Amino acid sequence: MTSAFHFRRMITMAYTYEYFQKSADFLRSKVDFTPEIGIVLGSCLGPFAQKIENPVVVDYKDIPNFLISTVASHAGKLIFGTVAGKKVVCMSGRFHSYEGYDFEQLVIPVRVMKLLGIQKLILTNAAGAVNTDYRPGDVMLVSDHIKLTGHSPLRGPNLEEFGPRFFDVSRLYTPELRKIALECAEGTGLRVHEGVYMFFTGPQFETPAEIRAARMLGADAVGMSTVTEALTAAHCGLPTLAVSVMTNMAAGVLDQPLTNEEVDETARTIEHRFSQYMTKIVDAL
Ligand code: HPA
Repeated sequence: MTSAFHFRRMITMAYTYEYFQKSADFLRSKVDFTPEIGIVLGSCLGPFAQKIENPVVVDYKDIPNFLISTVASHAGKLIFGTVAGKKVVCMSGRFHSYEGYDFEQLVIPVRVMKLLGIQKLILTNAAGAVNTDYRPGDVMLVSDHIKLTGHSPLRGPNLEEFGPRFFDVSRLYTPELRKIALECAEGTGLRVHEGVYMFFTGPQFETPAEIRAARMLGADAVGMSTVTEALTAAHCGLPTLAVSVMTNMAAGVLDQPLTNEEVDETARTIEHRFSQYMTKIVDAL
């Protein structure tokens, strides 16, 4: 009984190169261009998707071997099109461990976008500010991350076609892309920092004690996404920029409970400026 369970698990974990190719082949049959930049839009940052020109929209549920968004604020659509004259593929809605997905499954979107030909990846997310110099509505370019919970999305048999078994993550968040994004901040009216993102699995927000621990460890912000995608990108050598929107002060910083409404509301107040900032970044990359 136990061994049958383990055997079944081993099969489900053993994604082959062909597994990812099947999704990519399907998507190639829907669009007649190669996207240059892949973009993942986080919670409530979806409106950027409306800026995509000549969009070709594909529902996640129609893509073979893909995953399905279960979070209300995530649209669950892959959008191909043009932003600032560049060909992009944009995920409006992403997948998280807290939805029940295994870490190994979370490699799927980035690997499929890599097979579609993207040269650079932009990840966005909503995050809680741990750094007390930050304010809700601020933006943080992720310079590094801390992940002490959950295992690696690259666990399991290694697919050499994507990258080596052991790989460097000391330049996970590509410094050159960060420099460009920092330069683009000027004139946007946004306060843009560089800082460390700490991953928590969620779906509960963190405890005040966890936030104090995160701060002592050197975190500036906390969130429930992005690192699995960034690690997948590092494995296949994809330059990556990660941009966090501080939707709230993290738990215990203010004397009030954290609510998803607060997260949504801040995201809504900044989404227009954030979309403009993203467009500027895409143009400059
Ligand atoms: N913690 C984790 N994830 C988040 C937060 C937070 O405070 N805010 C938005 N996403």
